[in-house]
Amino acid sequence: MTLPSTLNRISVRFAAAIALAIFLGLTTAAGLSLALKGTSENGLRANGSGSRFMTSESAIVMMYPRQNTMMLAGKIAMILRTAISLNPSDRERFISALTDPAILIEHAPSDDSVAGFEANSHVDWLGRLVAVQLDDLSTVIGLHGGRIPTDNLRRERPSTHLRETVAVLRARFSDGSNIRFVLPEYPAAEGSGKLWLISMTIVVIGVSIWMGHGLAVPIRKFAHGAERLGLDLTAPPIPVEGPTELRRTIRVVNQMQDRLRRFLDDRTQMLAAISHDLRAPLARLSLRVELATSGEHRQKMHRDLEVLNAMIDTTLTFARDDARQEPRRLVDLGVLIGDICEDISDLGGDVAYDDVRGISIHCRPTLLRRAVSNLIDNASKYGDRARVVVRMDNDKVYVVVDDDGPGILQGDIEIAFAPFRRIASERAPSKPGVGLGLTIARTIAREHGGDITLTNRRDGGLRAQLELPV
Ligand SMILES: Nc1ncnc2c1ncn2[C@@H]1O[C@H](COP(=O)(O)OP(=O)(O)O)[C@@H](O)[C@H]1O
Ligand SMILES: [Mg+2]
Repeated sequence: MTLPSTLNRISVRFAAAIALAIFLGLTTAAGLSLALKGTSENGLRANGSGSRFMTSESAIVMMYPRQNTMMLAGKIAMILRTAISLNPSDRERFISALTDPAILIEHAPSDDSVAGFEANSHVDWLGRLVAVQLDDLSTVIGLHGGRIPTDNLRRERPSTHLRETVAVLRARFSDGSNIRFVLPEYPAAEGSGKLWLISMTIVVIGVSIWMGHGLAVPIRKFAHGAERLGLDLTAPPIPVEGPTELRRTIRVVNQMQDRLRRFLDDRTQMLAAISHDLRAPLARLSLRVELATSGEHRQKMHRDLEVLNAMIDTTLTFARDDARQEPRRLVDLGVLIGDICEDISDLGGDVAYDDVRGISIHCRPTLLRRAVSNLIDNASKYGDRARVVVRMDNDKVYVVVDDDGPGILQGDIEIAFAPFRRIASERAPSKPGVGLGLTIARTIAREHGGDITLTNRRDGGLRAQLELPV
């Protein structure tokens, strides 16, 4: 077995799709957030306070603002703990030596009053998170969180992406000195989460459509092929393609079709062989009847032999037509039925037919002709007069044959379809026939994916209806 066929293509494809979706989602979101940050970084630099400040916060941190808060709080608490442990002059040097990619840390003047400072609950919570991590709060006498406007930054670098304000966390020590933590991306830009979600959704939808299409096309082909098999056992096998499970199913269906067709072929061949082999003894019997008997008996025996011969002829004709595997082709049903009616009229039958044109179906014409002529023949034989109507309804074609005869008792209708069964009728005591007409007609109809039904009409007579899929 080759590698591709042993691999489960569905799961491989699925896994690849998910990996691709995540990868594309991440890169899209990262790209977008980097673009956003670029603008805010420029803004801060323009303000002159960002010389040792880099806003290269990673996309991952932006995607998890909660984790960002915890990490920030831990980092700030650690810096504060160190700052507390130092004397004021060392503290100042320590702070100027600090660089952090996500926070701007400044040693602020004692009167740290920033214009437009406004309280912000997010930054306030960050302050509380920092406070609980400090062992000695008494040396820090104030920890205030809020936001300051970035109007001046915006004026210098007009950018649609720069946020209105940046977050600031201030710590005031007992000796009056201040540390200011400026957090340009805190809390994480509101849009970034949504941005990530939107890009992820778009990518996932795209990948789903791609995957769905990859699955739907072979399934649709399979459904179409299976439908055709239902109508025609001689249809070519369904092409084996698609995911592994589907390919296995298609193979099973194709094998089933093959077995069914062989079974039907064998049955027809057996029937043909028996009928054929009966001919020789029958011929000998005819000869012996001729030689051995005389008078009335001989005539009766001859009649029986004729019936036997007719049965064999009909069986053989059908078996031969069926075994011929006549190819299907597009046939104008109106023309086909017109021909049949003409033939039956020529033989003395009374047939009325409203000619219709334009209804064409794929069929095996010789067989279909036999099925329809058996119905019309019955109507003119047992019902004296046949009326034939062809109509199309949705995706089906109906050939309706009405007559004015005695009809068939409801309980005898299925019997009439049985092979070599004839329904005794005082009105038709000696009509020629062997009881195979309806059997053969129904077999042909079903082989075409259709059927034949018999109903007694309310105003007398029988209605035989052949229904075929278009
Ligand atoms: N249109 C009809 N009206 C009344 N009886 C019918 C009609 N068609 C068929 N039958 C009955 O059904 C039986 C079986 O019909 P069929 O299979 O065509 O065989 P056959 O015509 O050779 O007898 C007929 O013998 C007849 O008794
Ligand atoms: Mg008949």
